[in-house]
Amino acid sequence: MSSLKDIRTDYTKGIITSDDLAACPADQLSKWINEADKAGLSDPNAFCLSTLNKDGFPNGRIVLARRIDSEGLVFYTNKNSAKGVEIESLAKAGATFFWAHLQRQVRLNGEVSHLSDEESDRYFASRPRSSQIGAWASSQSESMASREELESKQAKFESKFKSLSVVPRPPHWGGYIISIEEVEFWQGRASRLHDRVKYIKSSEGWSKRLLQP
Ligand SMILES: Cc1cc2nc3c(=O)[nH]c(=O)nc-3n(C[C@H](O)[C@H](O)[C@H](O)COP(=O)(O)O)c2cc1C
Repeated sequence: MSSLKDIRTDYTKGIITSDDLAACPADQLSKWINEADKAGLSDPNAFCLSTLNKDGFPNGRIVLARRIDSEGLVFYTNKNSAKGVEIESLAKAGATFFWAHLQRQVRLNGEVSHLSDEESDRYFASRPRSSQIGAWASSQSESMASREELESKQAKFESKFKSLSVVPRPPHWGGYIISIEEVEFWQGRASRLHDRVKYIKSSEGWSKRLLQP
């Protein structure tokens, strides 16, 4: 194992300029996720979701983006989880994507709102049955005495829904959408002189600005 101070990567895989990037940042983000997917990266739609807790400390954790368009960035979770409680108390969040292999990063922030019940229902219905049962079994972010406690809840819900062909969506589980207010695209470059392009939102739409690395 190398010493941490000796680990170095040369960032030479790409270049971005303002003109290369799409006019709409949601389109550009979708394009980069597609490119990460095509490059065979696992979880190309994973991002670090940052929220603030009641003491003002930021909390980050990885979640999966399930829809990205001009309305914003959608993810699904248990709304009673730590992140759900934090969003209910302050409806703002950050999202940070990193694709190490492509030497790219995107970060954005925005206001968070609830997705419609219809869209959450549709997405929940598309999940594997085992994940649907898992959503009922796990009181996400709460402590438990043992793994067996969780597995016995899993068995309980499997038996509860055995006769139903469709598992209903738990009322505490669903989607949030983060509007895109600020967003920055980063491409690693040689000599740590990376490319950074920030999108600025105004009443006329989006404009772009270069940032120093
Ligand atoms: C690759 C990956 C994808 C994940 N996707 C989700 C997700 O879409 N939704 C979710 O609630 N948790 C997801 N998780 C688990 C979260 O990182 C986190 O552990 C969980 O949501 C509890 O976070 P909280 O206690 O801060 O609310 C994922 C974790 C990883 C590593």
